[in-house]
Amino acid sequence: MSETIGFLGGTGPLGRGLALRLAAAGHDVVLGSREAGKAQALADEVRAAAGEGAGEVRGGTNGEVAAQADIVFLTMPFEGQRTVLEQVAHDLDGKLVVSCVNALGFDGGPHALPVAEGSSAEEARQLAPGARVVGAFHTVSAPKLEDLSRTLEGDVPVVGDDAHDRQRVVDLADAVGLRGVHAGSLRHSHTLEALTAMIISVNKLHGTSAGIAFTGIDPDRARPDQPTGA
Ligand SMILES: NC(=O)c1ccc[n+]([C@@H]2O[C@H](COP(=O)([O-])OP(=O)(O)OC[C@H]3O[C@@H](n4cnc5c(N)ncnc54)[C@H](OP(=O)(O)O)[C@@H]3O)[C@@H](O)[C@H]2O)c1
Repeated sequence: MSETIGFLGGTGPLGRGLALRLAAAGHDVVLGSREAGKAQALADEVRAAAGEGAGEVRGGTNGEVAAQADIVFLTMPFEGQRTVLEQVAHDLDGKLVVSCVNALGFDGGPHALPVAEGSSAEEARQLAPGARVVGAFHTVSAPKLEDLSRTLEGDVPVVGDDAHDRQRVVDLADAVGLRGVHAGSLRHSHTLEALTAMIISVNKLHGTSAGIAFTGIDPDRARPDQPTGA
């Protein structure tokens, strides 16, 4: 596969886990960091874990990732998003950007933070106006992604204003072993980010790492390209 998938803030559990699963599925990936050496060291670990037949795995600065990748995942904490995107936005023009970032606060328990633009993903769209932003993977468990011996289950709601862009991310969710689900326009990203706070509470209260799954979806009846009122 010639397309390169990059991760801004790719050295945390989510970036590592998604990069590992996608590399194992044959995609070329590049992990980004504020420190190139840190990303290169992690890339070596991901390459070794991904095994035979994996895609190419590289590491570099966040700036190198933005310049080199065709699809760019945002896998940094919400607090770091503005600084990173202000530095690299010019290299994201025309690219598909996948926001996994949850704007959450923790004050004894997780809760959704108010964001002026509506959500973290909509802030990203404002900071990188030339990019096509889609939101996905908010509710997945990074430790499960990082353990290739585990079979994944559950759904990945994918929100975005363009059906073709959403489909590309649905396909990536399927590639990591989950099920991508078209979930409407980007304005639903606030719902997904807030839902994640509740899921973290569920997981604390039940001692687990549950995700979400929709019931009753029939692929034969799907019409993913109908207008979503973006
Ligand atoms: N962890 C999960 O299970 C999970 C699941 C779904 C979604 N998410 C979302 O995905 C995002 C990443 O989660 P994570 O647990 O992987 O995060 P994390 O470990 O806290 O951060 C990921 C990377 O972001 C960079 N970073 C940290 N603070 C930064 C700052 N102030 N400015 C710029 N870069 C900074 C760091 O990389 P360098 O130091 O190398 O630059 C860090 O390794 C979050 O928004 C989270 O809500 C997480």
